[in-house]
Amino acid sequence: MKYLIINGTPHKGNTWKLVQLAKESIQLKDQLAVFDEIHLARLNLPFCSGCSVCFRLGHEKCSHHEIIGQIIDKINNADGVIFASAAYNMRETAMLKNFFDHLCFMLHRPNFFTSKALVITTAGGVGGKRAAKSISTFLKGIGFNRCYLFSVTTYSWNDYKIKDITRVKLRKVVSKFYRDILSGRLHSPSCMLLIPYNLFRGMSLAYIKGTEFETEDGLYWTEESRSKSVYDSAVHVPIYKKPIGHLFYLIGKIVGRKLVVTYKK
Ligand SMILES: Cc1cc2nc3c(=O)[nH]c(=O)nc-3n(C[C@H](O)[C@H](O)[C@H](O)COP(=O)(O)O)c2cc1C
Repeated sequence: MKYLIINGTPHKGNTWKLVQLAKESIQLKDQLAVFDEIHLARLNLPFCSGCSVCFRLGHEKCSHHEIIGQIIDKINNADGVIFASAAYNMRETAMLKNFFDHLCFMLHRPNFFTSKALVITTAGGVGGKRAAKSISTFLKGIGFNRCYLFSVTTYSWNDYKIKDITRVKLRKVVSKFYRDILSGRLHSPSCMLLIPYNLFRGMSLAYIKGTEFETEDGLYWTEESRSKSVYDSAVHVPIYKKPIGHLFYLIGKIVGRKLVVTYKK
């Protein structure tokens, strides 16, 4: 199995110790596991410039695509992705947030439907869980099929010692993450995911090719495989959830007709 580690913390500190433990736990289960590491601090990724080119014309046109495109490819090629972040101001670090800002177009055009994540956060006192939740909420929005969260309060600057109980708990979460990846099973989306997905599916019809404000969203949502289905075809949606998708698609279509977002070209 291939694992990608995205380190959103500027140094290898407290959070990295937990990442190392997670890595060891995976290696115990899978001696052939291969790990690739991305340390965002080393990439010198500029801030998202807010040009909205990714939304309008496609993410390949982003002036930072050389960096972002490679990470997207690596996520797509990994069986599992580990995101690591310290809690800064009770959220993910600005560096990880900056990376996420570059992927915000995927909230309009989700992508990682077969990806599964393990999110590891630490906080000195408070906010670690909130940071993990913030990360996983974003990941689910861009398509991630499942996120496992692990958060620890370290009460330490650079001198965190992992307690035995934390080791046990982390191993448990890693085990679930690993078994889930191994199963190859894709979980059906929650209703809370079907709602925004289908609102976008409906609303984006106002931006299809030939309309005044045609965008990449319009192209994406009119793709043959996507236009008629309440979720990506890779993921099974049980019959009882489908009406929710259809309903919000209709609402999206109505809203899209009344509320047109203008794009200056
Ligand atoms: C800029 C900055 C902001 C921080 N914000 C918080 C915070 O909101 N809540 C908290 O409990 N700890 C906060 N901390 C402490 C770190 O989250 C904590 O020490 C963490 O374990 C550090 O992980 P690291 O060594 O992997 O960077 C902050 C630390 C820094 C440097």
